[in-house]
Amino acid sequence: MRDLDMTILDASADSVTGNQLRAAASHFPTGVAIVSSVDNNNEPVGCTISSFLSVSLEPPIVAVSLGQTTSTVSHLIAAGKFGISVLSSSQGGIAAVFADREVDHYERFAGVRWRPGRSGVPLLDNGLSSLECVVHDVIPTGDHLLILGHVQALFASGWGSPLVHHQGTLGSLKR
Ligand SMILES: Cc1cc2nc3c(=O)[nH]c(=O)nc-3n(C[C@H](O)[C@H](O)[C@H](O)COP(=O)(O)O)c2cc1C
Repeated sequence: MRDLDMTILDASADSVTGNQLRAAASHFPTGVAIVSSVDNNNEPVGCTISSFLSVSLEPPIVAVSLGQTTSTVSHLIAAGKFGISVLSSSQGGIAAVFADREVDHYERFAGVRWRPGRSGVPLLDNGLSSLECVVHDVIPTGDHLLILGHVQALFASGWGSPLVHHQGTLGSLKR
């Protein structure tokens, strides 16, 4: 068995660093999505996230957690609405581009196929599912903002292979 070279599980609450939390949390695999909205010129904005969570079924509420310094989050809050496009295992390149701070929103969307949803938020083509939400609540939490969204519309494919984020790498599920 491989030796675990990071014995950090005993760190007490006041000594836990962000990097330690990132390392521990990275063992929890997640899907990958693009959270999107529009700027004040109605142009698409968005970035890659793994912090997508279904919170309540009735009413249908989801959450995403966005860093306070992301450019996407201020547009999203100003617009009061957002989209989620869940990526398939063939969309790792899109996840990388939408996570790159050096690539602006115009360039990000110029490189993908997308269409406006019913609410006008941009949704990527060829994802596994997409959701359109209005902002239900914004909860400042440390260096992030927890955004709760009331789901207004959604699309889900029957089956598909998801893009998976695990220990800092993007891959697919082995079945
Ligand atoms: C797989 C993956 C998951 C990510 N998940 C999140 C997330 O949940 N929340 C977040 O704020 N940033 C997340 N990021 C980082 C953002 O995508 C990145 O900071 C991006 O540049 C933000 O763009 P913006 O500042 O233009 O909004 C993730 C990046 C990757 C590669």
